[in-house]
Amino acid sequence: MYELTCIGCGPGDPDLLTVKAVNAIKKADIILCPTSKTGKTSMALSIISKFLVDPKPKIVNLVFPMVTNKQILDESWKTNSKILLDYVLSGQNTVYITIGDPHLYSTWIYMHKKIEQQNQQIKIKVIPGITSIFTFAAKANIGIGEASDKIAIVPSCYDLSTICELAKNCDTLVFLKDGRHFEQIIKILVKSGFPNTSKFVIGQDLDTDKEIIHKTTLGKITKDILTTKYFSIMVVKRA
Ligand SMILES: C[S@@+](CC[C@H](N)C(=O)[O-])C[C@H]1O[C@@H](n2cnc3c(N)ncnc32)[C@H](O)[C@@H]1O
Repeated sequence: MYELTCIGCGPGDPDLLTVKAVNAIKKADIILCPTSKTGKTSMALSIISKFLVDPKPKIVNLVFPMVTNKQILDESWKTNSKILLDYVLSGQNTVYITIGDPHLYSTWIYMHKKIEQQNQQIKIKVIPGITSIFTFAAKANIGIGEASDKIAIVPSCYDLSTICELAKNCDTLVFLKDGRHFEQIIKILVKSGFPNTSKFVIGQDLDTDKEIIHKTTLGKITKDILTTKYFSIMVVKRA
């Protein structure tokens, strides 16, 4: 049976890769790396690069455009899953890499679905990675869930109309995917009555030399701590 391995590479620090992930990288013939634009270096590839050993695996970039148009997305999933499948069916040891954990907002989820639809003869193995959420929690020293806390994970670049409801029903709200929407979200949280004394942490570019983290309370946020970076996280925890 043919085999395909997906590796979660964590948010940036290569030392956060699991031993299992490093062993799989060392055995790979082909490494497929998602990237948002042709010619752009894959973030996942830069995380694992120090573990590439001779004979070096072939590196193949797969372009996934960062758009919300379902048709364009579906086309890219079809094209990329076909490339992936061709390598797997050639009998080479094929590894797909992705940032954080593969099961949280990752292109892997779509690749996995497409491959399952096309071919049942492939043994798929997924090696989990540390998600940006828990790297952030560790750096910002914020407990994401305590006792009966209810937690919401919200991708900020989509419909924000449910945030008011989430703010009423959850204790911790974690916002990912695009800091450009965070200012608007903060306004909604305040309007929805989330307590002003709630813990507020915001971070960008974790595990890079551009990393910034700020901690305050919801009522004391100042504009200068906000971010417009895609690689940003914001956590608000009820007081
Ligand atoms: C497409 S999602 C991928 C999530 C990833 N699978 C995970 O488990 O963390 C991309 C979002 O994850 C967050 N993220 C991932 N890596 C990050 C990093 N190094 N610094 C800050 N945010 C990061 C940001 O919110 C970004 O918009």
